[in-house]
Amino acid sequence: MTPMKWFFSFLKKYRGKMILGICMTTAVSVLSVVNPYLSGQIVDRVIQGGEYDLLLPMIGCLLGVTVVMGALRFLFQLVFETASQGVLYDMRDKVYRKLLEEDFAFYNKKRTGDLMSRQTGDMDAIRHFVAYVIYVVYQSVLMFVFALIMIFTVNTKLAAAMLLVLPFTALTTYFQSKEVHPAFQRNRDCFSSLNTFVQENVSGNRVVRAFSKEDYEMEKFEAENDKFRNAQVDASKIWMKYVPVFEVLSYVLNIILMLYGGYMVIAGEISLGQLVTVNGYLWMLNNPLRQAGWLVNDTSNFVTSVEKIYNTYVEEPDVKTPVSGVVKKHLKGAVEFRNVSYRADDEDIVMDVNFKVEPGQTVGIIGSTGAGKSTIMNLLCRFYDTTEGDVLVDGVNVRDMDLYNLRDNIGMAMQDVFLFSDTIEGNIAYGRPDCSFEEVKRAAVMADANHFISALPEGYDTIVGERGVGLSGGQKQRISLARALLKDPSILILDDTTSAVDMETESYIQSQLKKIEKDCTIFVIAYRISSIKDADLILVMDNGRIIEQGTHEELVAAGGYYATAFRHQYGEIPKEITERKGEA
Ligand SMILES: Nc1ncnc2c1ncn2[C@@H]1O[C@H](COP(=O)(O)OP(=O)(O)O)[C@@H](O)[C@H]1O
Ligand SMILES: [Mg+2]
Repeated sequence: MTPMKWFFSFLKKYRGKMILGICMTTAVSVLSVVNPYLSGQIVDRVIQGGEYDLLLPMIGCLLGVTVVMGALRFLFQLVFETASQGVLYDMRDKVYRKLLEEDFAFYNKKRTGDLMSRQTGDMDAIRHFVAYVIYVVYQSVLMFVFALIMIFTVNTKLAAAMLLVLPFTALTTYFQSKEVHPAFQRNRDCFSSLNTFVQENVSGNRVVRAFSKEDYEMEKFEAENDKFRNAQVDASKIWMKYVPVFEVLSYVLNIILMLYGGYMVIAGEISLGQLVTVNGYLWMLNNPLRQAGWLVNDTSNFVTSVEKIYNTYVEEPDVKTPVSGVVKKHLKGAVEFRNVSYRADDEDIVMDVNFKVEPGQTVGIIGSTGAGKSTIMNLLCRFYDTTEGDVLVDGVNVRDMDLYNLRDNIGMAMQDVFLFSDTIEGNIAYGRPDCSFEEVKRAAVMADANHFISALPEGYDTIVGERGVGLSGGQKQRISLARALLKDPSILILDDTTSAVDMETESYIQSQLKKIEKDCTIFVIAYRISSIKDADLILVMDNGRIIEQGTHEELVAAGGYYATAFRHQYGEIPKEITERKGEA
């Protein structure tokens, strides 16, 4: 499918409206022929011919036609406007749905500002095209042709003289469209870039301030701003160059009429009334010419936007739900990794991971930063697909499972907590918006969040998120934990979820997790031995590999990496503990 075909597929639904609009536009174009003709008749028959009783009916006719044209114009503008809003609504909807389907790899590469531009500026160019440009182009072409035909019926030679201008107009239109397209593309790219810059800086404004980098960012912004302005100016220069050419061409028509037409009246080849009629049609020839430059601009803008939106839209996610995926409403939570490896950008991230977990067991994962801990959880949720090996849940390969069903059974508190601009209750109930307040509260109690939430002036109704009350890192982690718990999942993943809470809170949360009645497989990623030492299975990761696995006792007895870490944290240097105390 080409971008244009894709666009027309949206227009199809509004075929009826578009045809109605086109019919009305045609009617208006046909009616435009009447008034110049009548004007000529008034001159010839009333003013010069003395048939005064024709004056009133003719003036009445003139007025009538004008009113009908006005009404029709209002109606078709309305029709095109509603059709354009409809097209835009459908397109925005479809593109957004696709954005939600895209996988992590897509978002890793894409800039937020670019994606935002697709949904705002580019969409608007399309709306403008459907609402305005389509009928103006159509009407201009019709009027131009009708006017020419009418002039031909008046006098062939005069019409032929006027046709001389056409090739020049066509050439100018061609050159302008060729030049303006790349300029618009550049324009759009710069706009996206500027958008991305502003979006990143607004989101990261705390970092900018903390490092006193305002001047530096301002300089960078000015560079982006400059680039955008220059791109705009360059694009404007192109139309500034061509619009006068179109203007001149339309004046040439006037001159031809006055010189050649005037000569013909004097020579008696045409009547004065006919000159007036042709003069009336001149407007119908001129107007399309004057607008041609703008229309080429708008069309070019539209084409660029459709291409940009389409190119984002067609990117297919690698991770896809199978056509007839296995659906099990409640998974038991058995997890197995078989020879799992994952590569991204030619880099081994995870290598040869093997482990097996029974439903209801707790798995602790420990290891240095960048060891691949979060990655194996991402593979379990199928945010990425393995490069080699299989991930099995309840004995079924996750690739064969319905993606949404799989994720529905997993509760995840991610390493970097994201809260929506919503109430705390809304954030916790995100996975189950229809649950009762008691359930929200129970989840909060389990995550040891109820205490601090109740102490807030507005309690569970406090708005958090980007611009909300500043919650501490540990508080956000606990809200995110409550959110994962409320889902009542078969598999619970806690990725570094208690790193910012004090030890006391952590052991409280651990005791609460043990109370989960349903069989729930729990993965705990942590740096503190205390967080995972009671786990049924502990995986020690380093450099993308599992270097040790077993229970706490087994690993301590083995005297490897884990045993050393244990001695460091509990033995000679209780460094971790003192540090945390200082933080809390
Ligand atoms: N999709 C990806 N593309 C490229 N690199 C990745 C990707 N996912 C993870 N990595 C890299 O793999 C390494 C392991 O990451 P991660 O699993 O997040 O480590 P951690 O053990 O700290 O959770 C890191 O160096 C990270 O930058
Ligand atoms: Mg991690």
